[in-house]
Amino acid sequence: MGALGCLDLQNTQFRGSPVTPNMPAPSEITVPTETPVTKSITVDKSGDRVRDMFAQIAPRYDLMNHVLSLGIDIRWRKQVVRMLNLDSNLPILDCCTGTGDLALMLARQVAGRAEVIGSDFCAPMLERAAAKHQAQLGEAPVRFVQADSQQLPFDDNMFQAVTVAFGLRNVQDTDLGIAEMIRVCAPGGQVCVLEFSQPTLPGFRQLYQAYFRHVLPRIGQRFAKNNQAAYDYLPNSVLEFPSGAALVERLEHAGLQQVMIRPLTLGVASIYLGRKPTA
Ligand SMILES: C[S@@+](CC[C@H](N)C(=O)[O-])C[C@H]1O[C@@H](n2cnc3c(N)ncnc32)[C@H](O)[C@@H]1O
Repeated sequence: MGALGCLDLQNTQFRGSPVTPNMPAPSEITVPTETPVTKSITVDKSGDRVRDMFAQIAPRYDLMNHVLSLGIDIRWRKQVVRMLNLDSNLPILDCCTGTGDLALMLARQVAGRAEVIGSDFCAPMLERAAAKHQAQLGEAPVRFVQADSQQLPFDDNMFQAVTVAFGLRNVQDTDLGIAEMIRVCAPGGQVCVLEFSQPTLPGFRQLYQAYFRHVLPRIGQRFAKNNQAAYDYLPNSVLEFPSGAALVERLEHAGLQQVMIRPLTLGVASIYLGRKPTA
C-alpha cells in the first residue's frame, strides 16, 4: 500500500477520478416538528463550500474542537476504537479524517499489524494530520489520502473496518457516502459512524440546543477568526442531520446488519456500528 505515513494528496496510486466533485445545488431541509427548531434551514453542502470552510478553519480546528467540547471529543473517539473489533490484518479506513485524530488512535491500537488510511477532500486538514502523524507516531503505518467520500478511490471489500467521525453529516449525498463506506468494507467487516445527535432528556435537550445554536457559533467565530458562516453551519448541519433510529434506518437500508447505537454524554453524540453481510 505504498510508503508509510505519506501524504498522498495527488491520489496517484488509486483508481478513480480526480478529487474535485461536481456538486449539485444546496438542498432545502425542513427540520422535523418534534425538534424545538421548526423553521426551514438551508444548509449548503456543496463540495467547494464545505472544503473551503474546512480549509479556512484548519489551523485552529483541533483547538476549537477541544475547547468547544471541553475535551470530550477525545473520549468519544477512544470509545469508537474500543468498540471496534480489529483483529484482522486487513487495512482500516477513516473517512473524512480531517486532522487525523481517529486515524492516529486506530493506528496506535493496531500497532503496525494493519495499515490505517485516513481520507479527506480538504488538503489543509490532511496536512495537519500528516504533521501530527510525524510528531506522534513516526513510522507506524498511517497514510493520508485526498479523496471525496462520495467516490472513494479504493477497491471493493478491502478494509476490515471503515470509520467516520463528525464527517458524514458534511457529505453532500449522505446515502452515497454510506454506500461508499460499505462498498470498500470487507464482507463481515464493520462500518462505524460517530456523529452529533439530539439529546432526549427533557430540560438538558433544550439547554444543549440553546448552547449549540446561540453560544457555540459565537465562541467558534471568535476563536477561529472565521467568517460567521462556518460556525452557523455547525448547528444547522447537526440539526438537519438524521440521528438515532433515523440514521440506523439509513444504515440498514444501505445494507448494514446488526446496527447498534451507543449514545454518548447524554446523547450529545452517538456511535453507530454495523456489519457488512458476509454474502
Ligand atoms: C468536522 S470535520 C471531522 C474531522 C475528523 N474526522 C474529526 O473527528 O475531527 C469534517 C471533515 O469532513 C471532511 N469532508 C466533508 N465532506 C467530505 C467529502 N465529501 N469527502 C471527503 N471529506 C469530506 C472535511 O474536509 C472535514 O475535514
